Amino acid sequence: MSNESITSVLKEARRFAPSKEFSERARVSSREDYERLYKESLEDPETFWRRESADLVFREPWKETSREKGGKGPAKFPFVEWFVGAKLNVTESCLDRHMSTWRRNKAAILWEGELGETRTVTYAELYRETIRLANALAKLGVQKGDRVAIYMGMIPEVAVAMLACARLGAVHTVIFGGFAAEAIAQRVADSQAKIVITQDGGYRRGNVLALKEVVDRAVSQPEAKSVEKVVVFRHLGERGPHVHMTADRDVWWNDIVEESIAGPAKEATIVDAEHPLYILYTSGSTGKPKGVLHTTAGYLVGTHVSFKYAFDARDEDVYWCTADVGWVTGHSYLVYGPFSNGATCVMYEGAPNYPDWGRFWSIVERWGVTTLYTAPTAIRAFIRQGEAWPNKYDLSSLRLLGSVGEPINPEAWIWYNEVIGKGRCPIVDTWWQTETGAIMMSTLPGAVFTKPGSTGLPWFGVEPAVVAKDPSNPSGYREVDANQGGLLILKRPWPSMLRTVWGDDDRFKKQYFSEIDGVYFTGDGARKDEDGYHWVVGRIDDVLNVAGHRIGTAEIESALVSHPAVAEAAAVGRPDDLKGQALVVFVTVKPGNKPNSDLAGRLGDHVANEIGKFAKPDQIRFADALPKTRSGKIMRRLLKDVAAGRTATGDTSTLEDLAVLSKLASDKYEE
Ligand code: PRX
Repeated sequence: MSNESITSVLKEARRFAPSKEFSERARVSSREDYERLYKESLEDPETFWRRESADLVFREPWKETSREKGGKGPAKFPFVEWFVGAKLNVTESCLDRHMSTWRRNKAAILWEGELGETRTVTYAELYRETIRLANALAKLGVQKGDRVAIYMGMIPEVAVAMLACARLGAVHTVIFGGFAAEAIAQRVADSQAKIVITQDGGYRRGNVLALKEVVDRAVSQPEAKSVEKVVVFRHLGERGPHVHMTADRDVWWNDIVEESIAGPAKEATIVDAEHPLYILYTSGSTGKPKGVLHTTAGYLVGTHVSFKYAFDARDEDVYWCTADVGWVTGHSYLVYGPFSNGATCVMYEGAPNYPDWGRFWSIVERWGVTTLYTAPTAIRAFIRQGEAWPNKYDLSSLRLLGSVGEPINPEAWIWYNEVIGKGRCPIVDTWWQTETGAIMMSTLPGAVFTKPGSTGLPWFGVEPAVVAKDPSNPSGYREVDANQGGLLILKRPWPSMLRTVWGDDDRFKKQYFSEIDGVYFTGDGARKDEDGYHWVVGRIDDVLNVAGHRIGTAEIESALVSHPAVAEAAAVGRPDDLKGQALVVFVTVKPGNKPNSDLAGRLGDHVANEIGKFAKPDQIRFADALPKTRSGKIMRRLLKDVAAGRTATGDTSTLEDLAVLSKLASDKYEE
């Protein structure tokens, strides 16, 4: 994306000050207080992080705040260590520490199934269930450092499974329940997971999802041969699908856990600060998904502190993060951040529109939700259904609203503010990524005014900059002027940053640190305004954000070309009012195949089978040829224009054959 087009997006001048009542009680109540804390976090990180993490459990305190990995000097990209010398287990901060306090019997999870059944899981229960499962996993042979894949829906046991792995020092890799068998097999192969934890099935939009069956298909593939055992939680039981248990491989969770917590996991496995906590696969601009690795102390501190401040967390809050636990938001702000703070979290199993578009608001009313953290794509979907749905419910318990995952358009922001927040609730717009582990920029609630569409100011310890590449500068870049578009980078390491791409240090270096030497490249375009507020425009690389799902064009293309009828494929994004971006693919077919609607249907199904239904293209367009440079590179920029119905703009001088473009634009081949 060019600098001009980044700059031209979003010219929004409205400002909303937080109410006096909110600010007076807020953890940080003014911009001055924020600036003071922010300055401290950069200039004296040792004092800042030690004070802010004082309520976490460290068996051994850290000796050094951060350093270059294995080195002596201060932390420097790409390889870093944080809280060097600390020894801990994250579950002691999330669970054990609450056992000796009144929070023991406080609700950790308020769960609602799609069919309306409810469960309340207290911290004492979460602690017990975690230790019981960890004991059982230890008996199955899970040891410190082993990888365990988790393929489950939104039920309390998914949090139990994650925490049980952490209890043993095992590394979990949660695979979003919407992924297909192929995608699971690929992740299992890359992480060499020994165990898969799943459930018989779950509900989504009134349908039963047969999760165990998908796992069966995944682990029967030769590439998934690292899997020794499949642990199955019985969630649906009689109501669910028939479950086939493979002898010697599959065990019921319910059968392997003992009544008592006595066992090896009663005592948590104490690990070093940099011990791996989890791997989460995410899409990049090239190749197959990357295993983003997060480690123990830095991630815990990052999520703990950011949860506390970004959501102005208080013990009496009822906090609801609507993200699926299969994505990073679910990891950081449904599990580690809230539990390390002793928060009460709502967890909802199903779809926002089941049985009708009032479901979210009925949940807010029923549980008295105070803090709602959701994605712009959901808000836009609600807007379409009209105000009558939220207006049917009492939303007066809400005091704070959050947004994450994509830029929020000002119209959606205003609706969220007025119709849901009734103008009383600050909106915390939080920018971050799977790789950053925790929030990197926000409109800190109560402290600063908000501007619809802006993700605000840098988080503590984070130093973002909006830059243009400039080889004439020793740094390789220059910061652009206020309100000019540029590349969003992060200039210094932060505690919860990814440590590497699992098993591939070179890819880690190349992906994040090669664009501009010595700084972290986010892949996003942004501008910073005269108040220091950031306006993130979106990805400028080949990563799409479709309805809040991060999708790599390379993954879609490789799924398509794995189909026997496809010769070449190119995937691009097209602006979409509801989803933010829609996925459009251009396909050329091999001789002997007819480019018709039947084939388009089959190709869509093929992508759904290879990756997951959420990655199904919104439009498949057939072409004789794809526009390429003389050196054979597909010119996506032109395809983006064609997909958006724009006349292809910009430089076409390197295009090999202009006729290709006019043919595509004529829509002759569109299905
Ligand atoms: O483009 C940015 C967008 O989501 C990307 C990260 O996606 P993922 O790793 O899946 O994590 C999503 C949840 C943290 C970013 O590169 N993004 C995320 N939050 C925002 C955002 N864009 C604008 N505003 C946000 N608040």
